[in-house]
Amino acid sequence: MRVLETEGLFKRYGDRTVLQRITLRVGKGERLALLGPSGCGKTTLLNILGGLDRPDSGSVKLEGEDLSRATPERVAELRRMRIGTIFQFFHLIPHLTALENVMLPLQLLNRKPMEARRRAEDLLLAVGLMDRIFAWPHQLSSGEMQRVAVARALSARPAVLLADEPTGNLDRKSGEAVLGLLQDLTDKEGTALVMVTHSEAATKVCHRVLRLEDGYLVDDALKAQVAGRK
Ligand SMILES: Nc1ncnc2c1ncn2[C@@H]1O[C@H](COP(=O)(O)OP(=O)(O)OP(=O)(O)O)[C@@H](O)[C@H]1O
Ligand SMILES: [Mg+2]
Repeated sequence: MRVLETEGLFKRYGDRTVLQRITLRVGKGERLALLGPSGCGKTTLLNILGGLDRPDSGSVKLEGEDLSRATPERVAELRRMRIGTIFQFFHLIPHLTALENVMLPLQLLNRKPMEARRRAEDLLLAVGLMDRIFAWPHQLSSGEMQRVAVARALSARPAVLLADEPTGNLDRKSGEAVLGLLQDLTDKEGTALVMVTHSEAATKVCHRVLRLEDGYLVDDALKAQVAGRK
Protein backbone atom coordinates (compact mmCIF):
# COMPACT_ATOMS: atom_id res chain seq x y z
CA MET A 1 0.00 0.00 0.00
CA ARG A 2 1.14 3.55 -0.69
CA VAL A 3 2.09 5.63 2.31
CA LEU A 4 0.81 8.87 0.83
CA GLU A 5 -1.35 9.40 -2.20
CA THR A 6 -2.97 12.57 -3.50
CA GLU A 7 -5.43 12.92 -6.31
CA GLY A 8 -6.12 16.19 -8.14
CA LEU A 9 -5.35 18.58 -5.26
CA PHE A 10 -6.27 22.23 -5.67
CA LYS A 11 -5.58 25.01 -3.18
CA ARG A 12 -6.51 28.66 -3.67
CA TYR A 13 -5.92 31.71 -1.51
CA GLY A 14 -8.38 34.37 -2.67
CA ASP A 15 -8.14 34.47 -6.44
CA ARG A 16 -4.64 32.97 -6.47
CA THR A 17 -4.37 29.25 -7.20
CA VAL A 18 -1.31 27.96 -5.33
CA LEU A 19 -1.66 24.24 -6.07
CA GLN A 20 -3.23 22.80 -9.20
CA ARG A 21 -4.16 19.21 -9.92
CA ILE A 22 -1.41 17.77 -7.71
CA THR A 23 -1.21 14.01 -8.00
CA LEU A 24 1.51 12.42 -5.93
CA ARG A 25 2.31 8.91 -4.79
CA VAL A 26 4.84 8.06 -2.12
CA GLY A 27 5.80 4.44 -1.45
CA LYS A 28 7.03 2.88 1.80
CA GLY A 29 10.56 4.07 2.57
CA GLU A 30 10.66 6.33 -0.47
CA ARG A 31 12.44 9.69 -0.12
CA LEU A 32 11.21 12.65 -2.13
CA ALA A 33 12.77 16.10 -2.47
CA LEU A 34 10.39 18.95 -3.21
CA LEU A 35 11.90 22.04 -4.83
CA GLY A 36 10.56 25.33 -6.08
CA PRO A 37 10.98 29.10 -5.69
CA SER A 38 9.94 30.94 -2.53
CA GLY A 39 6.18 31.40 -2.30
CA CYS A 40 5.35 28.66 -4.82
CA GLY A 41 3.37 26.56 -2.32
CA LYS A 42 5.83 23.98 -0.92
CA THR A 43 4.87 24.51 2.72
CA THR A 44 1.20 24.66 1.74
CA LEU A 45 1.55 21.24 0.07
CA LEU A 46 3.42 19.79 3.07
CA ASN A 47 0.72 21.09 5.42
CA ILE A 48 -1.97 19.45 3.29
CA LEU A 49 -0.04 16.16 3.18
CA GLY A 50 0.21 16.25 6.97
CA GLY A 51 -3.46 17.09 7.54
CA LEU A 52 -2.70 20.56 8.98
CA ASP A 53 -4.47 22.22 6.09
CA ARG A 54 -7.23 21.03 3.76
CA PRO A 55 -7.28 21.24 -0.03
CA ASP A 56 -10.15 23.07 -1.77
CA SER A 57 -10.67 19.94 -3.82
CA GLY A 58 -8.98 16.59 -4.34
CA SER A 59 -7.99 13.97 -1.81
CA VAL A 60 -5.03 13.07 0.39
CA LYS A 61 -4.73 9.51 1.59
CA LEU A 62 -2.38 8.42 4.33
CA GLU A 63 -1.97 4.63 4.23
CA GLY A 64 -5.27 4.45 2.40
CA GLU A 65 -7.21 6.68 4.79
CA ASP A 66 -8.62 9.91 3.34
CA LEU A 67 -7.36 12.81 5.50
CA SER A 68 -9.53 15.30 3.64
CA ARG A 69 -12.63 13.48 4.96
CA ALA A 70 -11.41 12.52 8.43
CA THR A 71 -12.65 14.33 11.57
CA PRO A 72 -10.23 16.78 13.24
CA GLU A 73 -9.84 14.27 16.12
CA ARG A 74 -8.88 11.47 13.75
CA VAL A 75 -6.43 13.74 11.89
CA ALA A 76 -4.80 14.68 15.21
CA GLU A 77 -4.55 10.99 16.12
CA LEU A 78 -3.00 10.09 12.75
CA ARG A 79 -0.54 12.94 13.14
CA ARG A 80 0.59 11.58 16.51
CA MET A 81 0.83 7.97 15.30
CA ARG A 82 1.83 8.02 11.64
CA ILE A 83 3.40 11.40 10.78
CA GLY A 84 6.68 12.89 11.94
CA THR A 85 7.61 16.51 11.25
CA ILE A 86 10.88 18.42 11.11
CA PHE A 87 11.15 22.18 10.68
CA GLN A 88 13.80 24.66 9.62
CA PHE A 89 13.99 26.14 13.12
CA PHE A 90 13.92 22.81 15.03
CA HIS A 91 10.95 23.69 17.30
CA LEU A 92 12.27 21.79 20.30
CA ILE A 93 10.37 22.37 23.55
CA PRO A 94 12.76 24.71 25.44
CA HIS A 95 11.88 23.52 28.96
CA LEU A 96 12.40 19.83 28.14
CA THR A 97 15.80 18.12 27.89
CA ALA A 98 16.94 16.45 24.66
CA LEU A 99 15.81 13.10 26.07
CA GLU A 100 12.41 14.47 27.14
CA ASN A 101 11.87 16.07 23.73
CA VAL A 102 12.42 12.70 22.05
CA MET A 103 10.21 10.88 24.60
CA LEU A 104 7.36 13.36 24.20
CA PRO A 105 5.65 11.80 21.13
CA LEU A 106 5.68 8.43 22.91
CA GLN A 107 4.22 9.89 26.09
CA LEU A 108 1.42 11.45 24.02
CA LEU A 109 0.68 7.91 22.81
CA ASN A 110 0.63 6.63 26.43
CA ARG A 111 3.59 4.32 25.92
CA LYS A 112 5.14 2.85 29.06
CA PRO A 113 7.78 5.24 30.49
CA MET A 114 10.56 2.61 30.38
CA GLU A 115 9.74 1.71 26.79
CA ALA A 116 9.67 5.40 25.80
CA ARG A 117 12.97 6.02 27.54
CA ARG A 118 14.66 3.08 25.81
CA ARG A 119 13.40 4.10 22.37
CA ALA A 120 14.47 7.72 22.90
CA GLU A 121 17.94 6.65 24.08
CA ASP A 122 18.35 4.34 21.09
CA LEU A 123 17.52 7.21 18.73
CA LEU A 124 19.75 9.72 20.52
CA LEU A 125 22.56 7.18 20.28
CA ALA A 126 21.82 6.76 16.56
CA VAL A 127 22.07 10.54 16.00
CA GLY A 128 25.33 10.69 17.97
CA LEU A 129 24.04 12.57 21.02
CA MET A 130 24.12 9.99 23.80
CA ASP A 131 26.44 12.24 25.82
CA ARG A 132 23.98 15.16 25.49
CA ILE A 133 20.71 13.52 26.52
CA PHE A 134 20.23 15.73 29.60
CA ALA A 135 21.15 18.97 27.81
CA TRP A 136 18.55 21.71 27.38
CA PRO A 137 17.93 22.91 23.84
CA HIS A 138 19.69 26.24 24.54
CA GLN A 139 22.85 24.30 25.44
CA LEU A 140 22.93 22.61 22.02
CA SER A 141 24.33 23.84 18.70
CA SER A 142 21.94 24.25 15.76
CA GLY A 143 23.14 21.00 14.22
CA GLU A 144 22.68 19.17 17.52
CA MET A 145 19.19 20.62 17.96
CA GLN A 146 18.22 19.41 14.50
CA ARG A 147 19.59 15.94 15.29
CA VAL A 148 17.38 15.87 18.40
CA ALA A 149 14.47 16.96 16.20
CA VAL A 150 15.18 14.08 13.79
CA ALA A 151 15.21 11.62 16.70
CA ARG A 152 11.95 13.09 18.04
CA ALA A 153 10.25 12.97 14.63
CA LEU A 154 11.06 9.26 14.33
CA SER A 155 10.37 8.13 17.90
CA ALA A 156 6.77 7.01 17.36
CA ARG A 157 7.79 5.06 14.23
CA PRO A 158 5.75 7.17 11.78
CA ALA A 159 4.99 5.97 8.25
CA VAL A 160 6.16 9.29 6.83
CA LEU A 161 8.41 12.17 7.81
CA LEU A 162 7.53 15.62 6.50
CA ALA A 163 10.51 17.96 6.59
CA ASP A 164 10.36 21.65 5.67
CA GLU A 165 13.88 22.86 4.79
CA PRO A 166 15.51 20.79 7.57
CA THR A 167 18.99 22.01 6.64
CA GLY A 168 17.95 25.59 5.82
CA ASN A 169 19.40 26.97 9.03
CA LEU A 170 22.54 24.82 9.26
CA ASP A 171 26.07 25.22 7.95
CA ARG A 172 27.18 22.80 5.23
CA LYS A 173 28.81 20.29 7.57
CA SER A 174 25.93 20.06 10.07
CA GLY A 175 23.47 20.03 7.17
CA GLU A 176 25.23 17.06 5.61
CA ALA A 177 25.28 15.26 8.97
CA VAL A 178 21.52 15.72 9.30
CA LEU A 179 20.93 14.54 5.71
CA GLY A 180 23.08 11.45 6.30
CA LEU A 181 21.06 10.64 9.41
CA LEU A 182 17.77 11.15 7.59
CA GLN A 183 18.96 8.78 4.86
CA ASP A 184 20.26 6.09 7.25
CA LEU A 185 17.39 6.21 9.71
CA THR A 186 14.58 6.27 7.14
CA ASP A 187 16.29 3.31 5.41
CA LYS A 188 16.59 1.42 8.69
CA GLU A 189 13.04 2.14 9.82
CA GLY A 190 11.33 1.99 6.40
CA THR A 191 9.99 5.53 6.83
CA ALA A 192 9.01 7.59 3.80
CA LEU A 193 10.31 11.17 3.61
CA VAL A 194 8.95 14.23 1.85
CA MET A 195 11.54 16.98 2.18
CA VAL A 196 11.19 20.57 1.03
CA THR A 197 14.63 21.87 0.22
CA HIS A 198 16.69 24.38 -1.70
CA SER A 199 19.85 22.34 -1.33
CA GLU A 200 21.47 20.23 -4.03
CA ALA A 201 23.01 18.02 -1.30
CA ALA A 202 19.53 17.22 0.02
CA THR A 203 18.29 16.03 -3.38
CA LYS A 204 21.18 13.53 -3.46
CA VAL A 205 19.83 11.52 -0.50
CA CYS A 206 16.40 11.28 -2.18
CA HIS A 207 15.05 8.73 -4.64
CA ARG A 208 12.98 11.28 -6.55
CA VAL A 209 13.09 15.03 -7.08
CA LEU A 210 9.86 16.93 -7.67
CA ARG A 211 9.48 20.60 -8.54
CA LEU A 212 6.53 22.89 -8.03
CA GLU A 213 6.20 25.13 -11.08
CA ASP A 214 3.29 27.57 -11.38
CA GLY A 215 1.22 25.39 -9.05
CA TYR A 216 1.89 22.17 -10.95
CA LEU A 217 4.09 19.35 -9.72
CA VAL A 218 6.79 18.28 -12.16
CA ASP A 219 8.76 15.06 -11.74
CA ASP A 220 12.42 15.40 -12.81
CA ALA A 221 12.63 11.71 -13.74
CA LEU A 222 9.62 12.02 -16.06
CA LYS A 223 11.11 15.17 -17.56
CA ALA A 224 14.38 13.31 -18.21
CA GLN A 225 12.44 10.43 -19.85
CA VAL A 226 10.57 12.81 -22.12
CA ALA A 227 13.80 14.64 -23.01
CA GLY A 228 15.43 11.26 -23.74
CA ARG A 229 12.66 10.33 -26.17
CA LYS A 230 13.13 13.48 -28.25
N1 LIG B 1 -3.04 31.17 5.12
C1 LIG B 1 -2.74 31.83 4.00
N2 LIG B 1 -3.55 32.81 3.54
C2 LIG B 1 -3.27 33.47 2.39
N3 LIG B 1 -2.19 33.21 1.61
C3 LIG B 1 -1.36 32.26 2.02
C4 LIG B 1 -1.58 31.51 3.23
N4 LIG B 1 -0.57 30.62 3.37
C5 LIG B 1 0.24 30.80 2.31
N5 LIG B 1 -0.23 31.77 1.50
C6 LIG B 1 0.39 32.22 0.24
O1 LIG B 1 0.51 31.08 -0.62
C7 LIG B 1 1.74 31.11 -1.32
C8 LIG B 1 2.52 29.84 -1.04
O2 LIG B 1 3.01 29.89 0.30
P1 LIG B 1 3.98 28.76 0.88
O3 LIG B 1 4.27 29.14 2.29
O4 LIG B 1 3.38 27.45 0.66
O5 LIG B 1 5.27 28.94 -0.04
P2 LIG B 1 6.68 28.21 0.02
O6 LIG B 1 6.89 27.58 -1.31
O7 LIG B 1 6.73 27.33 1.21
O8 LIG B 1 7.71 29.42 0.18
P3 LIG B 1 9.13 29.49 0.97
O9 LIG B 1 10.14 28.78 0.11
O10 LIG B 1 9.40 30.97 1.05
O11 LIG B 1 8.94 28.87 2.31
C9 LIG B 1 2.44 32.38 -0.88
O12 LIG B 1 2.19 33.38 -1.85
C10 LIG B 1 1.79 32.73 0.42
O13 LIG B 1 1.79 34.12 0.66
MG1 LIG C 1 7.88 27.33 2.96
